[in-house]
Amino acid sequence: MNIRNLLLEHGQEKLLRHYDALPEDAKSRLAAQLERVDWSLLSLIGEDHSDQRGVLAPLGATELAEIEAHRATYTDVGLTAIRAGKVAAVLLAGGQGTRLGWDKPKGTYNIGVTRPLYIFECLIRNLQQVTDMAGCPIPLYIMTSDKNNNDTVAFFEEMDYFGYGKENVRFFVQEMAPAVSFEGDLYLEAPDRLALSPNGNGGWFSSLEKSGCLAEMRAQGVEWLNAFAVDNVCQRICSPDFVGATILSGCDCGAKVVSKAFPTEKLGVLCLEDGKPSIVEYYEMTDDMITLRDDRGELLYRFGVILNYLFRIDRLTDIAERKMQIHMAEKKIPHIDEDGNLIKPDAPNGYKFESLILDMIHMMDSCLAYEVVREQEFAPVKNATGVDSVVTARELLERNGVAL
Ligand code: UTP
Repeated sequence: MNIRNLLLEHGQEKLLRHYDALPEDAKSRLAAQLERVDWSLLSLIGEDHSDQRGVLAPLGATELAEIEAHRATYTDVGLTAIRAGKVAAVLLAGGQGTRLGWDKPKGTYNIGVTRPLYIFECLIRNLQQVTDMAGCPIPLYIMTSDKNNNDTVAFFEEMDYFGYGKENVRFFVQEMAPAVSFEGDLYLEAPDRLALSPNGNGGWFSSLEKSGCLAEMRAQGVEWLNAFAVDNVCQRICSPDFVGATILSGCDCGAKVVSKAFPTEKLGVLCLEDGKPSIVEYYEMTDDMITLRDDRGELLYRFGVILNYLFRIDRLTDIAERKMQIHMAEKKIPHIDEDGNLIKPDAPNGYKFESLILDMIHMMDSCLAYEVVREQEFAPVKNATGVDSVVTARELLERNGVAL
């Protein structure tokens, strides 16, 4: 393909200045990246993104009291599925974790105080509680990105997979999307390299498929995938009761939820949109949605998601061909300027394009909202200090008996 024409066609002539000056091998490297760019992303810039939501309505959850009453049955059904090899775990660890300010993969962060205790280690220990109970391994698929794959794999090797068994762990790499200026110009991070960033956690299923991991799972008879975030150190993974309740519900998927701590808490809320399950972000909620209460005095839109979902593989396959919504996020994007100097901006200077796993919920016909105790299962490590931070996660780990 003629790169000059390609760049001109997409209004990226500014890149030619760098491109023309490159030696041949560097030109080929950049050309290979340019040929893979999804140019349709650029047309999103300047579009009206105010969300057109359908008709929203509250969605009830299987609440704690009900779970307590049926825990033995749920657990039994979940354990049977796990022992039959029908459940796998998918750790979404391709993010850049910029808010934490740790330039290695987030899972390699040491949250311990008097001893090393890595975020990945916390997650593996949580999963091991279930594999110990079930008496069999659960396959763990870890999504990384080009930016952190090597470091992540090397870390697991160095830590000997925290005793989980290398044979039970597979890595797959998510795709990347270009980062652009507010005007839609592609950024370069080096003269022969585009500034690319992971394409959001919504790309996990298509990346799983492209990597060949999905075919492997299918061959092994896996039917359910528990996808979860890297940063919630207290979450239970593949909890038998959650798996069992979701299977028994007949729903396409299940989502762990917590009761909001206060009405304006910054959590995406699970509800119904045009009769289908949907997640509304806190910043999209109207005043009524934030404050209205039911007869019991409980918030109508009470259940916040914690990025721990159980999906039926066949339903994911049904929606795999559908295009996911792309979200544009304003970010600080390091890049080189016209003279080749590296610029590290202090304020957002452009957009990254991401699809989000939460949009998959609305692509399903039904979703079981499954309440968990936030003091036991919700300790996200987003920031170094303050809300959802290393500090708050340490407190919760200690309250749950984890020695730090
Ligand atoms: P976050 O929304 O917290 O994003 O990801 P992030 O990139 O990790 O962190 P910040 O915003 O830069 O601080 C939620 C989960 O989705 C995963 C993350 O690794 C985390 O488990 N994720 C996010 C991916 O796997 N890929 C992505 O492209 C983005």
